[in-house]
Amino acid sequence: MFSRAPLMALRRAAQGASRGSSTLMWASAATAVGAGGALLYLERNSAHANMEAEGLHPPSYPFPQKTLLGTFDHASIRRGFQVFKEVCAACHSLDLVHWRNLVDVAYTEEEVRAMAEEYEYRDGPDDKGEMFDRPGKLTDPIPRPYPNEEAARAANAGALPPDLSLITKARHGGVDYIYALLTGYSDPPPGVEVREGLNYNPYFPGGAIAMAQNIFDGVVEYEDGTPNTASQITKDVVTFLNWAAEPELDERKKMGLKAVLLFSMLTAVSLWVKRNRWQSLKTRKIAFAPPKAWDHKPTKKH
Ligand code: HEC
Repeated sequence: MFSRAPLMALRRAAQGASRGSSTLMWASAATAVGAGGALLYLERNSAHANMEAEGLHPPSYPFPQKTLLGTFDHASIRRGFQVFKEVCAACHSLDLVHWRNLVDVAYTEEEVRAMAEEYEYRDGPDDKGEMFDRPGKLTDPIPRPYPNEEAARAANAGALPPDLSLITKARHGGVDYIYALLTGYSDPPPGVEVREGLNYNPYFPGGAIAMAQNIFDGVVEYEDGTPNTASQITKDVVTFLNWAAEPELDERKKMGLKAVLLFSMLTAVSLWVKRNRWQSLKTRKIAFAPPKAWDHKPTKKH
């Protein structure tokens, strides 16, 4: 006859399997989470099908002003303005920046005055009712390369070089995008046709941009001896454009830090005051002593 031993073994095996299945469940959940994370990582960090329409996602570059308490590198703003003046200003305007804005940010007042005076500005009318040209002053805007949009388009094969005053705020990806765009020119990959007059750049949505590459090693000569490699030049001009769009950044962070310190001190004081004021209530013990009349115990009759 059969003994009961195999039956017991079967039952033990079944119990083991059910314990095993919960381990399996956890393992598969962990795998699912891991796979999800990996997919998200890949989605954010690699080329995908929509890349051509949206542009390649730019990497994150370590600009100091991007960190919580980081501020602008002002020497870099100074070099960046030089790059803007010598390279980008041939096609791009910077309407929201005036010469005076540069004073004490990247240049001394005398330096800015001297730079402004190199340009002629139309002014007037004078006392004979005529317009005249005069050298630039601190209150003048940075001069535009073209008098109007039509002239700008005519000189750039129909494309309009946008005003760069707010460009780091106006593009998805901000400084990272502008840096990636300016350094991202390459030959089109096999099978990609770029129309005559356009240039292949994977970071630009659509992949073909009307602006040609214009930053190369040595394209400007720095006065402070910083190596003038293409990546350094691009970093400087992007830092400058970031300052142009957010000139209040340094001040804003300083105020933010002060506000956080001040409000946390005020919070601590108000918590202490609250404790103090509530102390008498919180430590009060309420005891109820019923009046004698409520006492229903039969009173002794005299
Ligand atoms: C020869 C003229 C020319 C020069 C020099 C030039 N650009 Fe451009 N730029 C253009 C044109 C044209 C466009 C518009 C491109 C388009 O819409 O396809 C443009 C577009 C841009 C854009 C906008 C891209 C976008 O996402 O829409 C940025 C940012 C830019 N330029 C930055 C610069 C910087 C920084 C410099 C200097 C280092 C510079 N450009 C020098 C002609 C120029």
